[in-house]
Amino acid sequence: MKLMLVGYGNVGKAFRKLLHEKKVKELENVKIAGIVTTRGLMLKDQEEFVPDKKINALEALDEVQPDVVVDMASANYKTGEPSLSLYLSALKRGIHVITTNKAPLALKYKEIINTAISHGSKIFFQATVMSGTPSINLYRILPAMKVRKIRGILNGTTNYILTRMSQGLSFNEALKEAQELGYAERDPTLDINGFDAAGKITILSNVYFSRYISINDVKFEGIGNIEIGDALKRGNKIKLIAYADEKETYVKPMEITKEDFLYNVDGVNNALEIESDIQKITIVGPGAGPLNAAYGAFSDLILLLRGENLPGL
Ligand code: HSE
Repeated sequence: MKLMLVGYGNVGKAFRKLLHEKKVKELENVKIAGIVTTRGLMLKDQEEFVPDKKINALEALDEVQPDVVVDMASANYKTGEPSLSLYLSALKRGIHVITTNKAPLALKYKEIINTAISHGSKIFFQATVMSGTPSINLYRILPAMKVRKIRGILNGTTNYILTRMSQGLSFNEALKEAQELGYAERDPTLDINGFDAAGKITILSNVYFSRYISINDVKFEGIGNIEIGDALKRGNKIKLIAYADEKETYVKPMEITKEDFLYNVDGVNNALEIESDIQKITIVGPGAGPLNAAYGAFSDLILLLRGENLPGL
């Protein structure tokens, strides 16, 4: 089985390392046949990126002829390109796609999923929401549950900033730390203004409610001008909350009391509460970080090799 990696930053490098270091029987016949970045295509599996050809990811599909494309490029929320065209083209040829990149799914979920279904190919995207902490893949093991609402903290950078501000740092000092730790988007405005969390709750809504929406349907506010002092004086915390039910989807900063489970979800941790006709489930874990995102894609690859798919696909 041939993989083509797209994007080779911190996440791509961590993914490659996992592939080489984890001795899993499913991986016995898996190899990296090509790595593509904006600098071109490298046709070998080595740590240092040295392009062999100056071609883009779409052209590289023909050259590499992979079985699976693993996209770890950064998000372009305007159009989802060039990843969107790459997925559609790959899925139409029966090539499976694994992605950590939220933008194409947040913008065009329905088109991507329908393309996969009609061509018998698969798309896996655990790392787009909560990185390596199961959120999308959690849904695979909750068959026949009727989900009523979901609520959570879905952006690691802003949760980290809010936590560090409550410990006395300024907004800018906390943001700098989040960037140094590899949590923030290349353009951190996308974290701060709530856009990243809005993209994630969009993807979750599509999966958990089978409700086809795009990020453009989601109301969102961020933490750009946030004042946390008054909430702290009341013994509360401010958290950037993402919420969705059958009718509405939003992201906004909210004051959270000690009784709320989300009160203790601090730092880069994210959380997701799922309320259903059967029970309420909460999952907590890191929502960002190169190794965590790489693990999200890596776990997708193992599930794909085991023949799994999302329920309903
Ligand atoms: N910038 C994102 C975050 C990365 O901070 O949550 C993980 O999606």
